[in-house]
Amino acid sequence: MKKDSFYVTTPIYYVNDKPHIGHAYTTMLADMLARAHRLLGHDTWFLTGTDEHGQKVQEAANARGIPAQEHVDEVVVRFQELWERLEITHDDFIRTTEPRHTRVVQEILQDLYDRDEIYQAEYDGLYDVRSETFITEKDLPEGCSLDNLPDWVKPIRETNYFFRMSKYQDWLIRYIEENPGFIQPDFRRNETLGFLRKPLGDLCISRPKARLSWGIELPFDAEYVTYVWFDALVNYISGVGYRHNDEQFARRWPCQVHLIGKDILTTHTVYWPTMLKAMGVEQPKCIFAHGWWLSGRDKMSKSTGNVVNPLDYAERFGVDALRYFLMSEMSLGQDATFTEEVFVKRYNSDLANDLGNLTSRVLKMVHTHCDASVPDPSSAVLEEPAAASLWAVVTDAVNGMETHIAAMRPDLGLHAVMTAVREANKYIGVRAPWKQAKEDDKQPLYDTLYVALEVLRVCAALLYPVMPGKMKALRHQIGAGEGDPRVDQLRAFGVLESGTPLLEGEGLFPRALIEKKKEAPAPKVEKKAEPKAANVVEISEITFDDFGKLALRTARVVAAEKVEGADKLLKLQLDVGGEARQIVAGIAQHYTPEAVAGKTIVIVSNLKPAVIRGVQSNGMLLAASKGKRLVLVTTDGEIDSGARVG
Ligand code: MSP
Repeated sequence: MKKDSFYVTTPIYYVNDKPHIGHAYTTMLADMLARAHRLLGHDTWFLTGTDEHGQKVQEAANARGIPAQEHVDEVVVRFQELWERLEITHDDFIRTTEPRHTRVVQEILQDLYDRDEIYQAEYDGLYDVRSETFITEKDLPEGCSLDNLPDWVKPIRETNYFFRMSKYQDWLIRYIEENPGFIQPDFRRNETLGFLRKPLGDLCISRPKARLSWGIELPFDAEYVTYVWFDALVNYISGVGYRHNDEQFARRWPCQVHLIGKDILTTHTVYWPTMLKAMGVEQPKCIFAHGWWLSGRDKMSKSTGNVVNPLDYAERFGVDALRYFLMSEMSLGQDATFTEEVFVKRYNSDLANDLGNLTSRVLKMVHTHCDASVPDPSSAVLEEPAAASLWAVVTDAVNGMETHIAAMRPDLGLHAVMTAVREANKYIGVRAPWKQAKEDDKQPLYDTLYVALEVLRVCAALLYPVMPGKMKALRHQIGAGEGDPRVDQLRAFGVLESGTPLLEGEGLFPRALIEKKKEAPAPKVEKKAEPKAANVVEISEITFDDFGKLALRTARVVAAEKVEGADKLLKLQLDVGGEARQIVAGIAQHYTPEAVAGKTIVIVSNLKPAVIRGVQSNGMLLAASKGKRLVLVTTDGEIDSGARVG
């Protein structure tokens, strides 16, 4: 490794997918590592991007009746905007449709072809049209056979190009065995070795254009495009100058860590290393596969509609809280659960209670008793036993963060920081500065508050890569200045200068409430796609009694206003037959407050009350929606509010 160089990558995401919490997670993890290495003064490079070729993209573009390039140019923005919103600090964003990438792929293909690493052969076998992969008989679902194929599997006989992957099998096994850090965690390494126990075939790397044209053309046969994975994996080197900028490539490669999800282990630990070996390029230092975010116990998937949208959480709790949750809740390598309940619990206990309380009580006292500036401690302040033992825990947190990040366990690093925060809260409890404030001699009070401010300084620095926004604010509030924290000051006591004025600031982490019933997986989930061709949506029948449980009433909208911080919500004040009610409705993108005021609408008046974005909602209004259009259900003529509907 070049000294102090750190190059980290994320998978490049399929551009046809709407970015979800899984994509956001890998990218935030890479961002946290990149930020930490930058603070350490390392020559850091963080690459992410999008995978833009393939069947699904082509189909989506066809369905819209526009060229594939136009389609990807539009949808890539979703990812780019999300990364901006989530404060991702990638140094480069690579798209596989960019010439800087496609020409490198073509050069590699030509070179491998010229050296007989790629050959043409007849493929006679099975093709899974759903996943766009060649499969063998053993991959067929139970009950199926060559004589009884499922609809989506087609027998196929076509000429294709193959990469001589099989010849690297023995080399790869040896390489993995000799380099234990190459595939991490260990159980993923064993999984790859297990996979390599079976004979490894050659890799089909082409698709006839007749079947798929949206891809990079083979330079030696214009009738074919290359297989998406042979294209996508190359981004990790085309993005840092391979074949075109030797200086940049020498500076960045080999990559320190390719972060991936466990779903793409084989492509990264078998295809990619053998491709690099054939190209004569050094291997990456580490391929790290993390687990999956599950919704409760279930896999998140579009079809079950339980996919968490990171923006919902970022809007409701702030980007930093989302980043903190993701980094502290997943033990890297294992699966983890993402539900609103788990999120709010972690947020309240670590951020609102422990860190938020410590900060607010210390700052309040410094403002009240020390003229809003850093107090002057006595010279022997750290000799006092409570302060000494607290500082030892803080130093443990610094050491812990360092070792746990190196071992890819940011969750443990963050837990060590929270232990220090809790210890500081205990210290405040023991020293009781509110009592010290009543004494004539104010030095013990100043000592207590100075120690607490120093603890906050170190914790803010340790949490900085995870919560850059809030920790910048905190550093401001404790008089630690504008710039980034200095790593060389993490173990030093006495860095804050007495007399430095503290800046006013808002509470960092207000307490959060759960909005939905406990069993609900997330505050908002992506709606299932509407059935495309059908005009009528089939629903199961209910009895008259079922219907009778709904108390539908007319209501007059007396006043309406936007809910702060929520683009989609309006808060409505209603008159329901003389009774005043407040409801929150997701109609702000369709109605202005002025447009809805004065209308007579229909509400479900016996819906259990809920708190939405911290606002009480007593009931739900009815609206008709189709596609992007939404209109309120109103009455045909004048009728008093509170009238029964049904
Ligand atoms: N385009 C390929 C990758 C090519 S890399 C050379 C691809 N794209 S993807 O859009 O499907 O993204 C896959 C990645 O998204 C996973 O490897 C993982 O990093 C992340 N996640 C997607 N869903 C996830 C969860 N539910 N949980 C955690 N991360 C997951 O595969």
